Amino acid sequence: MDFKQKVAEIFNNFDNELTINEAMQMIEIPSNQDLGDYAVPCFKFAKKYKKAPQMIAQDVVNSIEKTDDFENIINIGPYVNFFVDKDHYAENILKQACNQKDKFGSSNIGNNKKVIVEFSSPNIAKPFHIGHIRSTVIGHSLYKIYTYLGYDTVAINHLGDYGTQFGMLISAYKKWGNKEEIEANPIPELLKLYVRFNKESEENEELREEARYWFKELEHDNDEAVQLWTWMREVSLNEFNRVYDMFGIKFDSLAGESFYSDKMPAVVQELKDKNLLKESQGAQIVELGDYGLTDAVIMKSDGSTLYATRDMAAAIYRKKTYDFYKNIYVVGAPQKLHFDQWRKVLDLMGYEWAKDCIHVMFGTVSLEEGSLSTRNGRVVYLEDVLKKAIDKTKDIIEEKNSNLPNKEIVAKQVGIGAVIFQELFNTRIKDYMFSWEKTLSFEGETGPYVQYTYARTCSVLKKANMDIIEDVDFSLLTDKVSFNVIKRLDGFKNAVLSAHDKNEPYFITRYVVNLAQDFNRFYHECPIIVEDDSIKKSRLLLTKIVNTTLKTALGLLGIEAPEKM
Ligand code: ARG
Repeated sequence: MDFKQKVAEIFNNFDNELTINEAMQMIEIPSNQDLGDYAVPCFKFAKKYKKAPQMIAQDVVNSIEKTDDFENIINIGPYVNFFVDKDHYAENILKQACNQKDKFGSSNIGNNKKVIVEFSSPNIAKPFHIGHIRSTVIGHSLYKIYTYLGYDTVAINHLGDYGTQFGMLISAYKKWGNKEEIEANPIPELLKLYVRFNKESEENEELREEARYWFKELEHDNDEAVQLWTWMREVSLNEFNRVYDMFGIKFDSLAGESFYSDKMPAVVQELKDKNLLKESQGAQIVELGDYGLTDAVIMKSDGSTLYATRDMAAAIYRKKTYDFYKNIYVVGAPQKLHFDQWRKVLDLMGYEWAKDCIHVMFGTVSLEEGSLSTRNGRVVYLEDVLKKAIDKTKDIIEEKNSNLPNKEIVAKQVGIGAVIFQELFNTRIKDYMFSWEKTLSFEGETGPYVQYTYARTCSVLKKANMDIIEDVDFSLLTDKVSFNVIKRLDGFKNAVLSAHDKNEPYFITRYVVNLAQDFNRFYHECPIIVEDDSIKKSRLLLTKIVNTTLKTALGLLGIEAPEKM
């Protein structure tokens, strides 16, 4: 039984034209406890009943039959305000949580539908930097959220492992490269080559021509080109995989840009057949002026394809392979135009599923010394961020709790958790400036604070050493502080749903901080392990549910929950 559902039913009884779902949407949760646990505004009915909303609220109250679920239902102005029966409510939520265990807060809205979450997608031979952290962390969390809600989720890393820059890299390597140096320190060495090539080719058309030549050779399977490219891809992936391991991320597919190289001629042909291609200065384009967009370039004048073309091929391939319900791209806001053009082209090709392709974008990260720039060496490697966070955690553990078992593992869980949490604390679209100080601060509303609260619940439960919790007197949990925790627990499902609806993990980040705060208040004001057995039992039960919920919520963010710290 769900109290919100009961409220909706009351309104549905009052006015049959209003569906339960519509009524559910109208329910508000007042922040002021004096206004009850649920409140429903009646403005909406004024026109239909030709009455003031206050009068209608009164009519609703009068229409309600007596029920045990609510201790009071009154109208305050144009609202109907519901005060739940606290014993009843506490029993309901906690029993539900006990039964559902680590599924508490989930629902099966996914119904096994296929959802692709494409995330991370760094570029081979380039730094995996702080700019990629956002896609990596947001995407991983969305992947977990969709899976939790019963979707059949596919994690794809659309690696940037193709394109004209590989022509440059191959040329540069052949001129100035050194195998041993690169293998010892792959990304920075490859980056050096790339930067040098860019610089020298600025005033050297011959070099630029050479790079184009090598990319074409790569596209045409020239042995030497393919071998060099394969090697660069491999050494880069080894680097990236270290970071994915640290985050505990696994992909179902690494089909990146190169995977589509042999699938492009078919796309170009299809565009031609559908009369969408136009020639413009030697290049092949799709005109999008009528849709308020700049034209999409599909093929360059030298016949080589582009990033956008590869994305078209990827979308078509994914629809064929996975028959997705949603195809989500977690990619930065600067690529909005690219995705708008691409979706429009798919739409013009007659693919009605273009609307199911969603660009989940996020704001830009800059550094204190300016915008990120690989060419100018303004990069912060993601791996360095994680390592520093882990080192700092180690120092703190040595200082405060040097006897902690599994110190190394805990330092990793907490350090990385802190970085992820910070990343997911604000709405995605907000730009932000990376600061070491902020990332390494563990005070206040942070990942370590939540993890610490989780460890606290573990230690209480261990100390009590009571596995089975039965015969709980729920009326002992109706004081303000305990009840507040119960209400918060009841809000978990909504937090998960909001994160899903808006593709915003931050709803869960905020939720979990609030839950930790509510629990800590309870912990300080309501001693748990006390003489009185009934009090002890009821408080332990509440602790147990908070314990599971904290762990589940952190898990949805991609953060681990150590039992001791
Ligand atoms: N590799 C690109 C970058 O680092 C991101 C790829 C995004 N995904 C896509 N399907 N276009 O900017």
